[in-house]
Amino acid sequence: MLNLVTLDDLHDIVDALSTALDAKNSCMCGHSQRVAGLSLLMAKTMGLPLMEQERIHIGAHLHDIGKIGIPDAILNKPGKLTEDEFDTIRQHPEIGGTIVGKIKVFRSVADIVRHHHERFDGKGYPDGLCGEEISLGARIVAVADSFDAMTTIRTYRSGLSICEAIEETVRCKGSQFDPAIVDVLKALAIENKLESTESRDFAYRLVIA
Ligand SMILES: [Fe+2]
Ligand SMILES: [Fe+2]
Repeated sequence: MLNLVTLDDLHDIVDALSTALDAKNSCMCGHSQRVAGLSLLMAKTMGLPLMEQERIHIGAHLHDIGKIGIPDAILNKPGKLTEDEFDTIRQHPEIGGTIVGKIKVFRSVADIVRHHHERFDGKGYPDGLCGEEISLGARIVAVADSFDAMTTIRTYRSGLSICEAIEETVRCKGSQFDPAIVDVLKALAIENKLESTESRDFAYRLVIA
């Protein structure tokens, strides 16, 4: 008989699911894990309650799980995507929210998964929510996700440095991102909590004191 699952068990399940995604989407290897770490660090820095920090950590780790439902030929396509292919990729938050919503213990993070591509100005997808209509967790993950994507090398472009990615995030303050959360990310960079790496694949690692 199954025993009650612990928080550690939940993290094991999430880790296994995101490893399955990494195996499918080779150029984003480690992305889910890094976004989870950065989202958790931001949630801690903002002084959110411990259970909310856990919820954001797990939701961030699962944020792109819907890409499991996107054809490999599109996910791993070198070079620019066509508008139709972009439309297909844009389905992943909805697919992910549905997958996560079917698992009772993860149901409370489905909003983070579904809404991580919403924008603060209402021009995001899939629901076009704006401002605080988007849950705080989804707003945090949106910033962490974009920052990680910008600093990661893709087949068709090199990654930005930490500084360049922070500048770009600040430029999108109030339009794409919640200004208060951009300030948290910027403060982490100023406090040297984001450290440059020598890795060919990604530009930063977290410095956890
Ligand atoms: Fe995504
Ligand atoms: Fe992502």
